Amino acid sequence: MRGLSGKIGIIAGGARGIGAATAERLCQEGVKVVIGDILEDEAEATAERIRSQGGEITALFLNGTDAASQEAIIAKTVETYGGLDFYHSNLAGGTTEDTNAVDISEEALDNSLAINIKSHVLATRYAVPAMMERGGSMIYTSSGSASAGENQRPAYAMTKNAIHALSRHVARKWGQKGIRANVICPGLIMTEAVAIHMTDKHIEGIKRHTPSTRLGQPEDIAGLVAFLASDDAQFVNGQAWHVNGGVIMRD
Ligand SMILES: NC(=O)c1ccc[n+]([C@@H]2O[C@H](COP(=O)([O-])OP(=O)(O)OC[C@H]3O[C@@H](n4cnc5c(N)ncnc54)[C@H](O)[C@@H]3O)[C@@H](O)[C@H]2O)c1
Repeated sequence: MRGLSGKIGIIAGGARGIGAATAERLCQEGVKVVIGDILEDEAEATAERIRSQGGEITALFLNGTDAASQEAIIAKTVETYGGLDFYHSNLAGGTTEDTNAVDISEEALDNSLAINIKSHVLATRYAVPAMMERGGSMIYTSSGSASAGENQRPAYAMTKNAIHALSRHVARKWGQKGIRANVICPGLIMTEAVAIHMTDKHIEGIKRHTPSTRLGQPEDIAGLVAFLASDDAQFVNGQAWHVNGGVIMRD
């Protein structure tokens, strides 16, 4: 990737899954990476594994819904590595109680709004000013669920749509100051957490409906993050990128 090596970036929700695979890929590209996660020990284990492969990476505690915690991870990144070039706002959660619009409790709804919207706004609040001097890239992880029209997880789908609006706002407001903002919409991605719920029958069914004839892997998303963080994506701003093997086809 052109203009990626030497950059400095944060991955929020980087302890496992897509975030961890992205950290690994970016370190292979010569990026200095900070992973932030509420699962502090898992984040440190991931960083340790990537360091043992030669990656330059730091793990820090992050509670994405807490303004002070977001401010602190950005300040620490700038202090440690000398700046910030991109922030991959990737964390998500609160889906267990996210049943349907009639049954969801207010508590579950508030929890989802905090994790899946507020955290991204707080990340933006502190990351954009930190990147203003030399330009930078906000990369938000949404989901195919934002547009799929599922019969469950209404809060998750609503909050993912909200990220699209946030990303377009950032692109419009600060684009001319050198800030890019894009959204990635993964389809089903076989993280370890997803894979344990999959039977062979499920997998065969999914493959039958996937034009690309295989299951999505965390590395498929990591590749797009690497592109969006790089100078190859200098003219890419305010867009939503679907990575799903063709399961959903959208303009
Ligand atoms: N795996 C999929 O099939 C899939 C599909 C579509 C979208 N996505 C999106 O991709 C992103 C990553 O998903 P994943 O599958 O790797 O999930 P994951 O649950 O494995 O990873 C999410 C990470 O976010 C962290 N996190 C949650 N709340 C946090 C908080 N308040 N503060 C700090 N960290 C917090 C978790 O600890 C976890 O490490 C999410 O935004 C998810 O919605 C995943």
